Amino acid sequence: MYKVASIGGDGIGPEIISSGKTVLDAAGERFGFDIEWTDYDIGADRYLATGDLITEEELAELKGYRAIYFGAIGDDRVTPGILEKGILLAMRFAFDQYINLRPVRMLAGTQTPLAGKGPDDIDFVVVRENTEDFYVGIGSRFTGGHEKKQLEVIRDLYQVRFGLDVTTDAEEIAYQIGIITKEASARVMDYAFSLAMTREKKVSSVDKANVLSDVYGLWRDVFTETAGRYPEVTTEFNFVDAVTMWFVKNPEWFDVVVTPNMFGDIITDLGAMIQGGLGLAPGGNINPGGTSMFEPIHGSAPKYKGMNRANPLATIWAGSLLLDHLGEHTAAASVVSAIEASIAAGTTTVDLGGSSGTKEVGDWIAGYLLKGH
Ligand code: IPM
Ligand code: MN
Repeated sequence: MYKVASIGGDGIGPEIISSGKTVLDAAGERFGFDIEWTDYDIGADRYLATGDLITEEELAELKGYRAIYFGAIGDDRVTPGILEKGILLAMRFAFDQYINLRPVRMLAGTQTPLAGKGPDDIDFVVVRENTEDFYVGIGSRFTGGHEKKQLEVIRDLYQVRFGLDVTTDAEEIAYQIGIITKEASARVMDYAFSLAMTREKKVSSVDKANVLSDVYGLWRDVFTETAGRYPEVTTEFNFVDAVTMWFVKNPEWFDVVVTPNMFGDIITDLGAMIQGGLGLAPGGNINPGGTSMFEPIHGSAPKYKGMNRANPLATIWAGSLLLDHLGEHTAAASVVSAIEASIAAGTTTVDLGGSSGTKEVGDWIAGYLLKGH
């Protein structure tokens, strides 16, 4: 028996999570385990009603779970950043989910916009650092007339570094700082290299060490150090701008891609698109020894809320990552095969060219597993 927390969240979140749970329950019945779900009402509606994002009590309770199944957050009525930072990033940081695992794998029967490429070419995993870089939230925004002290600090910084007095006439200033530590880089890289050992034994690093040479210079040093401990693994460095080009031109080159947080965010939307669309891309926020969280990488698509129209496959696939995390590897693999079977059977949502609803896709996949697949 596994206890798993679930958070539907906003927009299409509750519907896709409901389909996902149907599938995971069926996988449990088929492979001999039970999931006891505890649902948490967290998201925009509650925030607008009570002002609560995620409470300290909820974080303390959620810490007791090994896995959280998460739908999506984001709502037109709330300023961008509040729910994202106050709920999703709050959990990633509170539970120190230092690995953001994002498979970029084209499933049989799906379409990629890349001409001449197929499932054999598009099969790699992005391992995104998930706790630092420009996501640490250190920054500020202020006008010249206010917060004089901060303004002076920034002005000094410019003068010392560049000999410029560029801020003297600035009406408004904003800055945001990215942090890379040796420790956080080492742990995510270790994960990436061990993962590569179970695959094609190749790790590609992503950075922008030619410009942001302090932070990503450190990142590179840790990569080189880690690579030294995995002599069987082939390695390469990529600048982030170039890697977007190679994802499109030669996706077959990649096996495991390890990336700092911010670049990882950007390149995994590209990854989702080349694997067949955002409706298919799952992610796991993993703390191997703590509380992990599994979610589709797409957002809450508020305009499709409650329409039984959203594609649940990314969420169902995220459920497969959740099962893998719990050690149910056979069930996890069967869920992905069942997703492929649903596509082959033409039971797909409109974004994949079908006419089935969110619920029907989940029910079909659950039924397929229960038939013994
Ligand atoms: C993602 C999302 C989040 C991120 C947002 C919603 C905070 O884009 O999971 O990729 O930037 O990490
Ligand atoms: Mn993103």
